[in-house]
Amino acid sequence: PARITVLISGTGSNLQAIIDSRNTAALPNTVIVRVVSDRKDAYGLKRAEENGVPTTYHGILPYKKKYPDDSSEKKFEEARRAYDSDLAKLILIDRPDIVVCAGFMRILTTEFLNPVKESSIPIINLHPSLHGDLIGAGCIKRAWKEFEEGKRKKTGVMVHYVIAEVDMGEMILQQEVEMEGCVTLEELEGRIHGVEHGLIVEGTRRVVEKGRTGKEGA
Ligand code: GAR
Repeated sequence: PARITVLISGTGSNLQAIIDSRNTAALPNTVIVRVVSDRKDAYGLKRAEENGVPTTYHGILPYKKKYPDDSSEKKFEEARRAYDSDLAKLILIDRPDIVVCAGFMRILTTEFLNPVKESSIPIINLHPSLHGDLIGAGCIKRAWKEFEEGKRKKTGVMVHYVIAEVDMGEMILQQEVEMEGCVTLEELEGRIHGVEHGLIVEGTRRVVEKGRTGKEGA
């Protein structure tokens, strides 16, 4: 089976979608080899444990603590890069065929991206916006604000390859989400998450299948 590593930071509803679909027609012949979270209290870690998936908590704090008296930008950058380098090492031990960022809220540097890509392992990300529209964290709230101001009528969800430039890697698939009729932010979040759960599974399936036919990496 194709080996999937999932990176998370929070609730893990998208991880749950992958768990429920693994090794079914939606995501045939697959196994989740590990879930890694940068947050100890991420509910997604519980979901993984309950489903017999190995977990690792990999937090940034020990890296930041190396520079207790120096909060300068440069030291912070060093901590991030050391964190990313170790993240790559721990992930590569499992020999995954794909790394899926499902609500992983850290920006990945080349310290992570290069060693993983050099091992021909594609890295994909789920993002709650159409490609090139809203970038970074808090996209659902930002879309909602613009909707309330009458500046926006739709948003969307995409799955894309991860590159160093945030949320700008090549798109794998995306779907528009109509905002019309949404009365609360929670309602919009519900609509978006509903779309996400389908898209992250289908995006993962496509990249896994590409890998099987040898088009990916090699
Ligand atoms: C999802 O909405 C995902 O698109 C978003 O985090 C949420 C995770 O939910 N990711 C980003 O904003 C990445 N820039 P989940 O923990 O329930 O899967």
